[in-house]
Amino acid sequence: MAKKIVAGNWKMNTNLQEGVALAEGVNNALKGFKANCDVIIAVPFTHLASINAVIDQNLLGLGAENCADKKSGAYTGEVSASMVASTGAKYVILGHSERRQYYGETSETLKEKVALALANGLTPIFCIGEVLEQRENGTYLDVVKDQVESALFNLSAEDFGKIILAYEPVWAIGTGKTATADQAQEMHAHIRGLIAAKYGQSVADNCSILYGGSCKPTNAAELFAKKDVDGGLIGGASLDVESFMGIVKAF
Ligand code: 13P
Repeated sequence: MAKKIVAGNWKMNTNLQEGVALAEGVNNALKGFKANCDVIIAVPFTHLASINAVIDQNLLGLGAENCADKKSGAYTGEVSASMVASTGAKYVILGHSERRQYYGETSETLKEKVALALANGLTPIFCIGEVLEQRENGTYLDVVKDQVESALFNLSAEDFGKIILAYEPVWAIGTGKTATADQAQEMHAHIRGLIAAKYGQSVADNCSILYGGSCKPTNAAELFAKKDVDGGLIGGASLDVESFMGIVKAF
């Protein structure tokens, strides 16, 4: 059975002090409460070491939102997977649609990032998802198939087994327009089917496939009730302790 996970993606929000306070707030809320899922926050690079110092990662996993596609060297401004791991972070979001769209990330660079993340003991939370035009012209299943195959199907079954997937339809991100639970289920089942065909049913059954895109306390339970939806990757609603915890409690 795939692990159930609720992960926050803070994106480019909060300064260091605000971020530490938010992380402490989530960590405190998780104390004395038995969450029925793993809970993770992915935060800006600048916050990682400070947040690691104030949270209990047995309660709240910590991740970065990106890492470099190079190991080390003359790449001004980049942050390597090894640097991320050295902060105490255990996860890294890779291939978010905002990275693909605004920073030109391709399956080729993402393959490198995934390999470096795994080599440094980080668990990638790998994002895929179609844009509105692809949803409307009916190519969305093929688009996501290509995203999964081209960046991840070079992995061994053992390494693929370490990946968390997040299906995030781009038209649902930050728009308030959530995919319906049935739309999410259709895509998640499609993705699990691709994994089963490539790596076998047990790898597919053990792979956590999260849904992301305007997930809120009010719609999380319906989404998470679907057979192939193993949790959520939460943007806006992860910036407030109460709303993030409202989603955690949907499990
Ligand atoms: P929102 O929850 O703000 O729509 O963002 C989703 C997302 O992009 C998480 O990675």
